[in-house]
Amino acid sequence: MMPVPESPCIDDGIERTGDQVDFKHWSSAIQQRMERALSRAVPGPALVPSGLHEAMRYASLEGGKRVRPLLVFAAAGLCSGVHQAAEQAACAVELIHAYSLVHDDMPCMDDDILRRGKPTVHKAYDEPTALLVGDALQSLAFELLAAPGLLPSAQRQLQMVACLASAAGSQGMAGGQAIDLDAVGKTLDLSQLETMHRLKTGALIRASVRLGALCGAADAADLERLDHYASRVGLAFQVIDDVLDAQASTQTLGKTAGKDAQANKPTYVSLLGLDKARQLAADLRSGALASIAPFGHGAHRLAELANFVIQRAF
Ligand code: IPE
Ligand code: IPE
Ligand code: MG
Ligand code: MG
Ligand code: MG
Repeated sequence: MMPVPESPCIDDGIERTGDQVDFKHWSSAIQQRMERALSRAVPGPALVPSGLHEAMRYASLEGGKRVRPLLVFAAAGLCSGVHQAAEQAACAVELIHAYSLVHDDMPCMDDDILRRGKPTVHKAYDEPTALLVGDALQSLAFELLAAPGLLPSAQRQLQMVACLASAAGSQGMAGGQAIDLDAVGKTLDLSQLETMHRLKTGALIRASVRLGALCGAADAADLERLDHYASRVGLAFQVIDDVLDAQASTQTLGKTAGKDAQANKPTYVSLLGLDKARQLAADLRSGALASIAPFGHGAHRLAELANFVIQRAF
């Protein structure tokens, strides 16, 4: 695929200025667009069962960095993706992510009381509600992605559905969470830790980039390059999550700091120490940038996102 200028995929008013828009403005426009799209997609309390719908909105709206949607839009922009499909795909992956957080925080998993600066869903509501919120957000994600006519090619759209399903399942996020729970109190070696992180966090990040690319004209070689990029960014994302858990404050994170050490979880920090963990994330970022170098300037949003993932404060 020839490198293309930033596509009109971002149809919220900023495409006229295209490349001139800095990362901060670009990401903030997408975050606002996502808030509107998710608010339309997630049913409200006017619909029965109102308690469940209210809790679904509590879990998915007004919070989060929306990194996965940003990756969907950046990849779709590179590949001249279809606007509406990119937005729906971004909502779908973000809803799977929101569901994973709700379940991750439950007493049977990480037992956390704070998420995105507010009480976790099982605290604000109750445990059965939190369980059902996760279930219902997951179903909604696939309903959005399977909407008839989302892409001109039904086969391409089916590839998107399959991509998200495998990233969320036992060989993706849910599988990684199982390894995480099983690893409490154990010492994993570097390769086992990498497998856990690649699954529990990397899989949805890889899916985000692939979904964006599938909205557009990416061919097999583009998809492979983008997958190399996403696999490095996905691992770096969880390495930095481990670092921030050990280094940042609860107030900055909006979730309880120091939880990994307290729960005796093996992490990149426990295995390598803070400096080497940060160095690993920086090396992964360099690898990610090298993977997308052949796309030239067309991939600048993806490059900015790789930087953001390792430089973020929360
Ligand atoms: C936190 O993800 C959980 C992990 C997978 C590491 P994020 O850091 O993307 O959380 P939000 O969406 O911004 O709250
Ligand atoms: C969570 O990893 C990964 C998923 C939710 C799939 P963590 O347990 O480290 O995430 P935080 O730190 O609670 O956000
Ligand atoms: Mg966890
Ligand atoms: Mg957790
Ligand atoms: Mg963490």
